[in-house]
Order: sequence, then C-alpha cells, then structure tokens
Amino acid sequence: MKAIHNLNEYLQQVEEAKVNPDQYWGDIARDLEWFKPWNKVLSGDFSDLNIKWFEGATTNMSTNCLDRHLKTRAHQTALIYVPNDPKQEPVRFTYLDLHQQVCRMASIFTNLGIKKGDVICFYMGMVPELMIGILAATRIGAIHSVVFGGFSAQSLTGRIQDCQAKLLVTNDGGYRGDKIIGLKQVCDEALKDCPSIKKVIVHRRTKNNINMVEDRDFWLHDLVPTATTVFPATPMNAEDPLFILYTSGSTGKPKGLMHTTGGYMVYAYHTFRNVFQLDGHTEGKDIFWCTADIGWITGHTYLTYGPLLNGNTTVMYEGLPVYPDPGRFWHIIDQLKVTHFYTAPTAIRALQAMDISFVKKYKLDSLKVLGTVGEPINEEAWDWYHQNIGQSRCPIVDTWWQTETGGIMISPLAHVTECIPAHATYPLPGISPILVDHTGKEITEVEAEGNLCIKHPWPGIARTVWGDHDRYCKTYFGTYPGKYFTGDGARRDAKGNYRITGRVDDVINVSGHRLGTAEIEDALNTHPDIVESAVIGYPHNIKGQGIYAFCICPRTQLAPEELRKELIAAVTKVIGPIAKPDLIQFVTGLPKTRSGKIMRRILRKVGEGDVSNLGDTSTLLNPEVVDEIVKGRLC
Ligand code: WT7
Repeated sequence: MKAIHNLNEYLQQVEEAKVNPDQYWGDIARDLEWFKPWNKVLSGDFSDLNIKWFEGATTNMSTNCLDRHLKTRAHQTALIYVPNDPKQEPVRFTYLDLHQQVCRMASIFTNLGIKKGDVICFYMGMVPELMIGILAATRIGAIHSVVFGGFSAQSLTGRIQDCQAKLLVTNDGGYRGDKIIGLKQVCDEALKDCPSIKKVIVHRRTKNNINMVEDRDFWLHDLVPTATTVFPATPMNAEDPLFILYTSGSTGKPKGLMHTTGGYMVYAYHTFRNVFQLDGHTEGKDIFWCTADIGWITGHTYLTYGPLLNGNTTVMYEGLPVYPDPGRFWHIIDQLKVTHFYTAPTAIRALQAMDISFVKKYKLDSLKVLGTVGEPINEEAWDWYHQNIGQSRCPIVDTWWQTETGGIMISPLAHVTECIPAHATYPLPGISPILVDHTGKEITEVEAEGNLCIKHPWPGIARTVWGDHDRYCKTYFGTYPGKYFTGDGARRDAKGNYRITGRVDDVINVSGHRLGTAEIEDALNTHPDIVESAVIGYPHNIKGQGIYAFCICPRTQLAPEELRKELIAAVTKVIGPIAKPDLIQFVTGLPKTRSGKIMRRILRKVGEGDVSNLGDTSTLLNPEVVDEIVKGRLC
C-alpha cells in the first residue's frame, strides 16, 4: 500500500512519480483488484492525444467499490443517507446491503435489455437509488451519464441526444426544501425528442401525480420482484468508458467528458485517501460527507467512488443547506458525528451570512478535516469556516480540480502538508502544473502569475469529448500545443504554492456551477425581441460570480420589467434555473472591435464596478455606447 502519512513520504512520492511515473502509478493501482494485469502503465502523450492507462488490464468499478470489501467489512456502514425531512431518520447501508442492491439494479438493467457499452442517463434527486444506479451501470459495463436535476427539459434532451442514451432513470419528483420538483414531468417533456430512449425507470420518492407511458415507463418497485441479488460483474478493459459527464465550455454546446474505467478508478482511489486522510482501519470510525450533488463531478469522485473504493463511510444528503433552517449542515454533522466535511465556498458564504446561533447550537467536535472545492475561496470565508466550523483545529484542504481532471490535482494533504488560506498550495505527486505566459512559454521563475497548464498525463484525465475527439484536442491542447490548458489563471508564490485566481476564458462559476457565457447568450437570444446579448460574470458576495446580461432589444413592445421576466423564463427553459441572470441591462449597442468582436473586457470592468479606467476605447467601432453602458450600469 502506497499511502502518504507525513511530509517525508509526500516529498519522496513527488520524487518517485517524477523519476518513474509508470512504476509510481503501477504501485498504486496494485492496491485495487484487477481480473487481468496491464501490459503497460501509460501509453500516449499530450502530442498524439491518444492517452491510455493500464492498457491490457481488465477490472470492474463496482467490484472494487463493493465486492473487494465484503471479506473484511461486509457489515460496516458504506452509506448513510439523510433524507430532506429532518424528522425522517438517516438510513444506513452496509457494504453488504449496497452490494445486494447494486446487484439487483444490475439485474434490472439487464432485464430491460441494457448491455455493455450502452448509455444509461440518470435524472434524479439525491436518493440512494442514484448511487446504486450508477454503481450498477458500472457493474454491467453500461456507461452512466448523470444529468443534474436542476437542468431544464431542453438541456436533458440535448444531453440524451448527444450520447444516444437507451435508458433513462428518474424519480417521480425530488424534494427541494418544502417544494417538490416534478422530475418525471421534465423527463416527459424532454423525451418528446429522444428516440434513442426505449425505456424509463421511475423510482417513487415524492408520490406526486405523474404520467406513465405504457411499455416505456416502469416503476422501479415493479421491476424488483423479477430481479436477482446475485449478479456477476462484467470484466471491463481499463480504457472502456466508465461515464460521460457534461460540462460547459467557453463556446458551443456543453461537452460530454468521457472518463475511463481503470485510470479514473485509480485516480479517485489515490486522491481521496491522500487528500482527506481518513482512518480506514478503525471500523466505521471516520465519516466523510461531501455535500455535492451526484450530478456534478464532485459527487461522482468524492461522494461515491473515492470513499467506496477506500472502504470508508460516505454521507449523502437529499436536501438544501438551508432546510428547514440554515443550521441543517451543522445539525447533520452533530447527529452523524461527521469527521470529514467537504463543501463549496458558495455554501460557506451563504451560511456565514446567517446568524451564528445556527452554528453554536450544535456540537462539531467530531470534525477532523474540512475541505472546499469548486471556486476560489475568499479569505473571509476561509477564516469563518476555519474558526467556527473547524474550531481552529481542523485543516482546510482547498482542492483545485475540474470535471476534466477526474480528481483533485492541487491541494494540501490533510495533516501532511501545510494549509494556507485561499491557496490550493501544492500539486499531488505525479501532477505537473506549470504557468505559461500569453505566448505559451513556460514561466520558470518560481514566483509568477500566468495561465495554468499541466505538462504530463495523469490517470484521471478525461480521454475525449464524447463523439468529438477533435473538439477535445482543440479545447484543451489547441491553445498551448503539447500542454493541457485548464482555462484557469494562477499565481505561484516563492515557495511554489499555487493560488487559483479564476477562469481566464468565457466560463463563469455561479455558486460552484460552471456555465458558459455563450450558452446563456444563446438562451437569451431565443427571445424574439432580443437582437444581441453579452453575458459576463461579476463579483457576487454569496455566489462567487453572478450573471450580468447586456441585451439589445430596439423594437420591444414590452415594459422593461415584463421583458426581464420573459428573458429569465427563456434562460430557465433553455438551460435551467441555475443560469438565470441576476442583472439584465438593456442597451442600444455593445462595445465592439472593428472586426465585430464584443469587447468583454469593458463589460467585465463595468461588472466589477470599476469604470474609472476602461482602457483605450477609441479604437472601438462604437465608442459612444460605452458611456451609455456606464451610465445605465447596475453594479
Ligand atoms: C473549475 C472547474 C472540481 C469540481 C467542482 C468544479 C474552479 C475548482 C477550485 C479551487 C479555485 C476552483 C476552476 C476550475 N475551481 N476548484 N479549489 N479554487 N477554483 O468542477 O465544474 O469542472 O469546474 O472550477 O475555475 O477550472 P467544474
């Protein structure tokens, strides 16, 4: 076992991974169960972009998450499920329970005709059946594609069409505080245009009235009696697709990033254990809670796969941080004696804004390690989290990574390396971040600022964009050939610590949700009164970034308030409520270069409320609109 327990071991592994990466990753991979060993650890590089890890090996994700533990920890809790309603007791699943349920679900999928290589789409609330479902998919070699339950019918349609999913698994409804979200209803709408979906499984959760289509829709509970609880896992090649997950980029439709079986599995296993440092030896002692939804990569890697691969106990919470009141997170930590808590800066800021009595009511002594993910954390939020939640004794691991990277790339290792407020600090062993200047040249001075790239492949890197390898090559390797470009800017201090400064492309991060400004503009432009629009992110106290839209609508008959409402409805319809603009300013023109490109730099300055120095605007095609925009600004 190649774990890291102290600084020496960390430094030693950094060296080992540098000198002989194949041996390093091979040693880690050997902790896991393989039906057949690999011929080669890494093949391909960032020039040929045909990267393969553990080629020739066969394995299965669900075997490694479940079967592998049955000899030693069958009766240990694998999952603690916390329902939305605080009056409902948490539900515990042992490794044995989870194994049985996953086998049964695998049998149900198979009975419905799903085979290795087929895509199963999940559009669900946070219920155990979602975790069981994705594990069951991996057991039979089906590829899962989870779509976050906050996306609209149109978004769901687009994602299903793109990967040609055959089966859709959903809930009748999902709880959001005291509201019910009609998930099945959204599916019905989405499926009007999805001929690839032949069957729908509906898990009953909220008991709201729904429509069931004969021969297409099946209640999960009706399928259970014909299913078995013994179901062998299908051996998968290391490079077989494990899942597809859609994420936004600076242009075009969301991309389906494809992660593979072997490499992703090894990376999830390795990063989880080393970053969070759970005690894996004492039965059920440490309890890990990641608050992300399984619809995002964090919910894949650190709510599901990382903890289960390591035989730990993971918590899944169905509801909102503020339901029934803003003390819910702290209540759950106290109630379950959570030891490791991993959440997003946006949630911390939202809860920080509430009365401190919501925190003080609960005992947080069980906590040992805190973590953050998804966006830069400001120092005030870091301090508040450290003092009030971590009681000034828990390290905070600020974990930088992306949907594309599969797992954590730059982060402190709890109790091993130093935590610095608002810094992701050092890369994990085997990870080679570099900063490049605008010409693409690597900056070799230690203290520097630049665009963040990664120099060498790691096992967890997404291998392709589903159905569009060319787009994968262009998006991630086109800017700086031979290097993976993250889209983020970063600063490095004299000791080599990284601080992520945020996206340098047209991607914005709203409450930890990643959205493309172009996507939101396209949605706004579906409104017949909108001629053109430009969207930027602006600093927002709670959300990190808010959405600021500038819209040209010369011939509208609608009052501004009416039009605003309709625009918000349009975005909700096309993308989902998460992409609703916070600010909409109506303008007669957008600042453009002579070649017709929108000068977003100027709009961003307006969004920052910093209009004293807009730079040289005289070369613009239409300098006069700048004054108008500044006068009517909403920040
Ligand atoms: C983008 C990736 C990684 C899972 C959740 C988000 C930003 C992520 C941090 C951090 C500063 C961060 C980056 C990155 N980001 N973690 N610790 N500090 N920024 O995954 O939706 O793929 O978004 O989130 O800008 O590129 P994602």
